[in-house]
Amino acid sequence: MCGIFAYTGNKNAIPILIDGLTSLEYRGYDSAGIHIPQSGTRKAVGGVSQLKLQNINSLQGTSGVAHLRWATHGEPTEINAHPHHDMSHKIHVVHNGIIENYKEIKESLISQGYTFVSSTDTEVIPQLIAFYLYTLKDFEKAVFEALNILRGTYGIAVTYENEPQKIITARCGAPVVLGLGMDENFVASDPTPILRHTKNVIYLSDGEVAIITPQTHAIYNLKNIPITKQTEVIDWDVEQVQKNGFDHFMLKEIMEAKEVVQNTIRGRIKINEGLVKLGGLELVEDKLKHAKRIIIVGCGTAFYAGLVGEYMLEEHAGIPVEVEVGSEFRYRKPILDEHTVLLAISQSGETADTLEAIREAKRKGALTLGIVNTVGSTIARETDAGIYNHAGPEIGVASTKAFISQLTALVLFTVFMGRTRSMNISVAKEILNEITTLPDKIEKILLQKDTIKSIAEKYSTSRDFLYIGRKYNYPIAFEGALKLKEVSYIHAEGYGAGEMKHGPLAMIDQDFPSLAITLQDSVYEKMISNIQEIKARKGKIISIATEGDRVIQEYSNDVIYVPSVHEMLSPILAIIPLQLFAYYFAVTKGLDVDKPRNLAKSVTVE
Ligand code: G6P
Repeated sequence: MCGIFAYTGNKNAIPILIDGLTSLEYRGYDSAGIHIPQSGTRKAVGGVSQLKLQNINSLQGTSGVAHLRWATHGEPTEINAHPHHDMSHKIHVVHNGIIENYKEIKESLISQGYTFVSSTDTEVIPQLIAFYLYTLKDFEKAVFEALNILRGTYGIAVTYENEPQKIITARCGAPVVLGLGMDENFVASDPTPILRHTKNVIYLSDGEVAIITPQTHAIYNLKNIPITKQTEVIDWDVEQVQKNGFDHFMLKEIMEAKEVVQNTIRGRIKINEGLVKLGGLELVEDKLKHAKRIIIVGCGTAFYAGLVGEYMLEEHAGIPVEVEVGSEFRYRKPILDEHTVLLAISQSGETADTLEAIREAKRKGALTLGIVNTVGSTIARETDAGIYNHAGPEIGVASTKAFISQLTALVLFTVFMGRTRSMNISVAKEILNEITTLPDKIEKILLQKDTIKSIAEKYSTSRDFLYIGRKYNYPIAFEGALKLKEVSYIHAEGYGAGEMKHGPLAMIDQDFPSLAITLQDSVYEKMISNIQEIKARKGKIISIATEGDRVIQEYSNDVIYVPSVHEMLSPILAIIPLQLFAYYFAVTKGLDVDKPRNLAKSVTVE
């Protein structure tokens, strides 16, 4: 998963391309590169800051392509960095995706005298275009010919020295969005780098090709037949994609939790009727009434949101639920039929494993739904119906606010489903009333950030952590541990508190602290017994506890309080201190929390 960005207009392209890459950096930072037609190429291993050291200002031009790489084929070296070019250096390509048949294309071109310089799959694209250009003498036709040969996934932008203001872009399985400005047009992997220039965008679908110049844009299918596409206006503000004065996006995004819940529920709840209105599900309401089972699919944080959803839906909507990671779902033999609903959860809406699970479920006749944050993303478009999170763009690689909104959307979905089944109006009213109390309760937790920071600092020398919880907060133990692993590179394990005695208790000693989600809910007494077992082995306990619980202090070395709330909603509060703990822990270690090593925000490869 890489980031592509391209510009054609009448301004100096260099600062525009560099700015664009900077805002796309969460997509990959193994290497960075730009190419300005008729001027030159600059590449660097690492991110944009390394690229800036490559004498970029000696380039000149009003169009160009840029790239950030998250390596899949070939080492993250300068030679493997994009843009890639043909042998004559006239065609340059930036690419996000994987060309599956690159070996056969490469062999065929080599047998015809072509030489390759990199070990990437991408290099076959400019070479193949050049191959067709040689005979067809037409840039556009050559690109169409080449695209019809490529198999795999791509979001590409192509330039040609002889037509420097023209950029050709195409999409097959990797996102591409066009930005339409005044006398300037843009191409990007997502709208983030475009927003500061224009809010008018067109999302390309798979099998679509766009040709842009400063004043024109035209879209075609792969057979070169023109297509009419609607322009959409993005309502995200530029400020939303900036740090707003916070040191890191991760902290900014955690601190947005209150607004995120407000935005996810806005206009969707009718408390007096005990109903939830979800416009995106209207067309499939009837099918949902007759659904017999739900399979939730997601990856990473979205998977853990799904695990919480299982507890919510089974307890309150009375429908059987299974939860699975996307990467496993499609490789076994899932039993699906028209009474099965596959609910995909994805912040980006582009995660390849989740997307393939949807496609598999569709093939087998299941109804597919999405809980997706990114409007117009592939999962949003390929599912039959869905719920948008409305969490705004999430830039920090470790998902925080999207998780809060995924859980909130799952509460809404539970009431929505429950009210067509066994849930009575008073239960629905109680849940909906409680959901409106969340923003104030979240604020109370966020106000404790300095306390959480000092707790994180206190434990900063520990090398291992255990996270434990039960019932609704069992998945929160996993998600809390994942946050610490992602940003701190520290060993952290999530475990069901009841399972401690079946193995993990053996690891516990004074150097192995546990974070225990011990809220005053239906499993409180059980949790207290579990943390006593740890205490007896000299293990240190940091408890996430319910406000007013003084007893917990007896068993804990440190306590972080969260306000009392309906048990089903408690994960939305309990995760926030764990997100802040992971954040401050990583900051104490001086790590780049927004761009953890080896990870990327949107995983569009399987
Ligand atoms: C990556 C990100 C995670 C995210 C997961 C699923 O691994 O680093 O933070 O949870 O992908 O992403 P999605 O966009 O599908 O929610």
